[in-house]
Amino acid sequence: MTKKEILNNNWLFHYGELERQPLKTTKKAASLGGLTAPLANEVGNRLPISAGGTHFLKLIAQGDEEQGLLNLAGTDLTDKLADEWENTDLPHDWNRKVPYVNNPEKLMSGSKPDAVGYYRKTFKLSDSELNKTKTILHFDGVMRMADIWLNGMYLGHNNSGYNSFSFDITEMARYGAEGENVVLVRADTTTGAEGWWYEGAGIYRSVWLEYKPLISIDSDDCYIYTKSLSNNKAVLGIELSVKNDTNELQVVAPKVSLDGKKIIQFDETEIDGHQCHNFEKTITLMQPKLWTPETPYCYEAEFEIDTDKILKNFGIHTFAYTTDGFFLNGQSYQLHGICEHQDFAGVGTALNQDIVDYKVKVMKGMGANAWRSTHHFASEELLNACDRFGIILINENRLLESTPWRVNDLKQMVLKDRMHPSIGFWSISNEELIGNTPLGSRIAQKLTQTIKQYDHEHLIIGAELLTPEGIIDENYVKNLDVLGVNYPEAGVMGSGAKLIHKKYPKLPMMSTENASYFSTRGIYKDNEDKRQCNNFGSYFSMVLPGVRKPGDPGVGGTAHPETVINYLKNNPYMGGVFLWTGFDYYGEPSPFNWPAISSQFGITDLCGFPKDYYYYYQAHWTKEPMIHLMPSWNKDQLELNKQGQVSIRTFSNAEIIELFVNDHSYGKKNLDDCTANWSIPYEPGELKVVAYQKGKVVAQDSRFSNGPTKKISSSKIYEGKNMTLVALKAVDKNNKFVENANESVNLEVSNGKIIGTGNGNPIDQNMDNNKVNLFNGLALVIVSKNSDLRIHLN
Ligand code: GAL
Repeated sequence: MTKKEILNNNWLFHYGELERQPLKTTKKAASLGGLTAPLANEVGNRLPISAGGTHFLKLIAQGDEEQGLLNLAGTDLTDKLADEWENTDLPHDWNRKVPYVNNPEKLMSGSKPDAVGYYRKTFKLSDSELNKTKTILHFDGVMRMADIWLNGMYLGHNNSGYNSFSFDITEMARYGAEGENVVLVRADTTTGAEGWWYEGAGIYRSVWLEYKPLISIDSDDCYIYTKSLSNNKAVLGIELSVKNDTNELQVVAPKVSLDGKKIIQFDETEIDGHQCHNFEKTITLMQPKLWTPETPYCYEAEFEIDTDKILKNFGIHTFAYTTDGFFLNGQSYQLHGICEHQDFAGVGTALNQDIVDYKVKVMKGMGANAWRSTHHFASEELLNACDRFGIILINENRLLESTPWRVNDLKQMVLKDRMHPSIGFWSISNEELIGNTPLGSRIAQKLTQTIKQYDHEHLIIGAELLTPEGIIDENYVKNLDVLGVNYPEAGVMGSGAKLIHKKYPKLPMMSTENASYFSTRGIYKDNEDKRQCNNFGSYFSMVLPGVRKPGDPGVGGTAHPETVINYLKNNPYMGGVFLWTGFDYYGEPSPFNWPAISSQFGITDLCGFPKDYYYYYQAHWTKEPMIHLMPSWNKDQLELNKQGQVSIRTFSNAEIIELFVNDHSYGKKNLDDCTANWSIPYEPGELKVVAYQKGKVVAQDSRFSNGPTKKISSSKIYEGKNMTLVALKAVDKNNKFVENANESVNLEVSNGKIIGTGNGNPIDQNMDNNKVNLFNGLALVIVSKNSDLRIHLN
């Protein structure tokens, strides 16, 4: 049976170029030596040499076998690991430990320098695998320009930091007494970035081995998809392929089951040695359980032959898009989406399943039902989380480019991902300058053809740049099932999207990116020195420098959340929105520069701590009664207007709300756009709102004027399989949250380790895992599971 073995632990990492760069070509097979093969002091032979080989080595070097090998291998066989190699586990983003640099050219990418890094690992393979399995080495993602060696042989190269790739190492691996295997990886971020945001560096996703039987089922070829749905009947297309890697003819009869119930048995079929056979059938399934974000039912699909079995998630659903918006399983369905890069506080891009699950849960809690993996192929972890938690995914291609290797990356991605229940769309591009040009059209056509060759179910979009005049290229747009428009609601785009809709009333359109609203968690005053933006709406602009006045283009970001939601309400043909972004991310610190190192667009901060507008969306997108109150209630954090009054804003999904200050009522209000605003005099104490539904109290929220920090409370906000996320919160002597606490906290851990820390402050450049600075009362510590974390206030 196909087996998978994760190879994430016990790697060695070297920052910077090696004294001697490993060679890629050699004079005699497998003899590159150096760090690409076992070292003199490691277990196993550096190079297994035959008797004839030994004789030959002696002949060419006056009897000195070692010298003969040195002459032929051309690389140092006496290499040792230098002291700078450090232990690490994967996933690993080396940039988290590299000091920030104040270089305007690196500002967008998170103010980290470009560099080269090496990874090395030894691993054993059992004798029992020999001649019985094929051994495949998989890399889920290496940032970037990766070169890989195994046992003195150069395996090959991978360009992009965003695709997965693999090597069949069956024959060149060492088994049992032959010794250990050595894999060496060189990653290089100096050769040009792929993105204008923080991309991380190194082996930032999993590495694993796959053992496949000699008569095997190819996982990427296993494919079930929904052809149609009607009256409790699903018509399913089923495909799979069986490969015979033996020398003899084999007879196979694959079967496919859903949740353990056989849905198809193929006839016995003969496959010649070293040949492959494709199986294909359409079946009807009665009473299907449908996958939706609200009921994300994942069938366990099993593809089986006597010698092999592949398991995959499968979801039954249909997707359609018209000028009336998006349709899921035949029903109109509004997409409440977020756009998201792949990084997180403290760990950079090294996200394991736990952190991805946490991120998805935070967004689910806001009522999000869709996610756009901007601007990259979704990781396996993200796909799995979206399958299980119920999120419709736009899986995005990095670039509108049809170079053979990019097309191949796209093809591999589609084959690998297409069966994931969460995938609703493939995006072929984001804001490419050549979109809507004849050149762009030709390339788009190549990419959509590549997708359609392997995928029969999902919709294709491109996230395109708008012009105020609404100019598009008809040929270009023909390649898309849905025209994605970024920032249709932004003032600087004029009525571009509306003009397109008017001119092409039959063209399906979707708002693939919007808002880009600046806000810093817990901040209610703009502050340029501290690089902070007011949650009520900042006066910094997206497109103009310095503090602006209301109405200037791009003030507060591309558009305020209210504008986005209202735009969607008034233009339902948009089918939904994808907000930029769910979380703050490293890099792109707009509207600021150094020392800001992270963005401010997030609906939560870098740690996933919600900012106020999280609750605005939650009020619109969830039904469970909720209310949220802003701002904080410390005078030093507030902006008073000329009359000495303070703005109060509440978000709720209830009917009526009432505001109190120290139990004095400021009266009840009906909500408009899930919002109620007040302007009242400041009076320290308790600020409280109560939400009523049909006359009954259904929710309430309070904020307090707090005293100084007395202690730090900690709570586990997420427990995953390998990691625990701990929130630190400052409280005063009355146990009230200290909303303006910015102290530093020392951290100690036993029975485990601190993996990363964060606090959501866009200028926090702390990289020391033994301390964390609170930011507006909160900080995050990520520890390995079951570790014992101790915190001391400085
Ligand atoms: C968009 C772009 C995103 C991000 C965003 C910031 O134009 O697609 O990657 O840069 O702007 O507002």
